[in-house]
Amino acid sequence: MKNLINRERTALLKYDIRALVVIAEKLKALGINIWAWENIGDPIKQGHIAPAWMKEIIKKTAEKNSNYGYSPTEGLLEAREFIAREENIKSLPLKKEDVVFASGLGHAINMLYQSLLGGGRRVIHPAPTYPAHSSSEAFFAGAAPLFYSCRAENNWQPDLNDLEEKIIKHPEISFILTIFPNNPTGVCYSDEILRGIARLARRYDLGIISDETYLRLLYKNQTQTGMAKIMLEEKPFPLIVMRSMSKDIPWPGGRSGWLEFYNLGQDKNFSELEETVKQGLRVQVCSTTMIQDALPLIYGDPRYREHLQNFIEKLEEQSQYISTLLNTIKGISCVPGQGAFYLAAVFKDGVLKPRQTLPIANAEAKKYIESLTSDPDLPLDKRFAFYLMASKGIFLTPLTSFEGPLGFRVTTLKTDLEETKKVYDEIKFAIEEYLGS
Ligand SMILES: Cc1ncc(COP(=O)(O)O)c(C=O)c1O
Repeated sequence: MKNLINRERTALLKYDIRALVVIAEKLKALGINIWAWENIGDPIKQGHIAPAWMKEIIKKTAEKNSNYGYSPTEGLLEAREFIAREENIKSLPLKKEDVVFASGLGHAINMLYQSLLGGGRRVIHPAPTYPAHSSSEAFFAGAAPLFYSCRAENNWQPDLNDLEEKIIKHPEISFILTIFPNNPTGVCYSDEILRGIARLARRYDLGIISDETYLRLLYKNQTQTGMAKIMLEEKPFPLIVMRSMSKDIPWPGGRSGWLEFYNLGQDKNFSELEETVKQGLRVQVCSTTMIQDALPLIYGDPRYREHLQNFIEKLEEQSQYISTLLNTIKGISCVPGQGAFYLAAVFKDGVLKPRQTLPIANAEAKKYIESLTSDPDLPLDKRFAFYLMASKGIFLTPLTSFEGPLGFRVTTLKTDLEETKKVYDEIKFAIEEYLGS
């Protein structure tokens, strides 16, 4: 076969949350027992169970013959109507025609960035970020992703000065991306910050893409305003809100997410973008049908609220325990979580060094890790993560994989606090051992 691969472009496709699993699998094959998988944000894999009433609803949808067929490209009308109605109850002017389904939000993200049609229309991403956004957008643009910083010292809130400087420097930027509550940091954004971002969108004639996958997952006494509400306070701008059934039901294996387009009629370019997304989806025929049929029945069920509350309470308990413990480690700081199920722990300046190690008894695994860590360009948090995996059997995703500073991301999804204590006590000892080596 002739060489058809554009390596520069494919190098832009990065998703370490799963790519590093290949390394874990290799270590497993060499005989290492990887017993703590702290990398993947899948509530089901970590032991959360769909309640019986929800399974009953899904069984009923499985009995409907129509759910075995294709569905309309943009999604089932009932599901789109339900979503628009929910937003209308909050006085948000979403039309059912402007809700567009995909097979998971990851799919919608891909379709949206594909529809931006290259480097002429770019998105600026928060850093740290959820890498599916930056990597997919960069891949379609054929150029490195553009970031604005959110600093741990400022509770991971976006730096508006940095954002404005980048917007001025890169006139090709046409959208600002926000993610809240945030993956990987677990923080909410204040109204003041959101208003600042909206101000920049208005000033520079930009749109906003607001990934609100985790908006329902707010810890006790936390508040988080959605971007559509902020947008309505003053002159409207093009806005795409992203949501998913993966995390707040949670049903990640169902693969259903959607885009909500606000203010389509007011901007020709924006309407064309929406039409391009739909065209792209038409080529793929339709998205997952059955889960869309179940959507109004699950979110609209009176038992859903209590189910969600129980889920959030578990997440918060875990989150508090882990952030408190991590902050007792010399060399680590961790901003407490406010929602979602992540925390970002940061190594303090200068504590990571290129020669630090942990003992690896298995000779072949040791050789493998030494070969991986011999790369002088390897970020030092990845080095730590590799040693942790091979020495202690614990898999943490490095924070540089999310375009953050040296650190690691934690998922707070376990159902049993005793199990969490076991894993994080071990992590604490391992960090102390590694930093002191
Ligand atoms: C911020 C964010 N957006 C989108 C997604 C993708 O979700 P889905 O399972 O719907 O593809 C995730 C998944 O982890 C996420 O964290």
